[in-house]
Amino acid sequence: MIVIDGIDGSGKGVQSRRLLQIFLDAGESAILTREPGGSPAAEDIRRLLVKGEPQKWDDMTELLLMYAARRSHLRDTIWPALAENKWVISDRYADSSRAFQGIAGNLGLDTVERIHRLVVGDFEPALVIILDLPETIALARTEVRGDDEDRFERKGQDYHSRVRAAFRQIAATNPSQYRLIDADRDIAEVGADITQTINAQFALQLTSVPATR
Ligand code: TYD
Repeated sequence: MIVIDGIDGSGKGVQSRRLLQIFLDAGESAILTREPGGSPAAEDIRRLLVKGEPQKWDDMTELLLMYAARRSHLRDTIWPALAENKWVISDRYADSSRAFQGIAGNLGLDTVERIHRLVVGDFEPALVIILDLPETIALARTEVRGDDEDRFERKGQDYHSRVRAAFRQIAATNPSQYRLIDADRDIAEVGADITQTINAQFALQLTSVPATR
């Protein structure tokens, strides 16, 4: 399982779609999934989380909803795909809970880890790529999207600045599992960096250019 994570507007969506295409072009069996969501039941929970007023849920309720969704995502999508020997590429995973609810939301990492252990056990993704860039640039990118899934974007710049710092802190804890990639560059450059990182980690020879976008 390979996770692409980072602040809102860091380009995870486009890079994870690109990565899926690169794996498929190479003849690998792979799926692309996302959090919150990634299974039918978890997508139901996603709708509760991403719409409405920022203060609708407090951090603890957000965390519990994220983990309810994550449990369904693991059981219904991730674990079955891994059992069929497929690569699983996920746009966000548990480090978003650590960064958003744990560190930026002030619940503390310890609380997230306790719930994580209960819900997930010791399953870990093989690699987590964190896309890093200043939150001011990232938030400006999200503003042009104009969808109604903006509950988190509206939590303000201070919150997102703490989220960025949190992801950087998490990435520094375990260099063998995490890679921090500079996402303040154009899509192709960031994409080439991601492909290179994956090739090095898994001894693959994926090419950096997907056939289609
Ligand atoms: P996402 O679908 O990545 O939003 P976008 O496509 O707009 O970048 O995620 C929705 C929001 O959920 C995002 O702001 C981050 C937040 N989130 C958490 O706070 N904790 C989590 O555990 C996850 C998975 C997401």
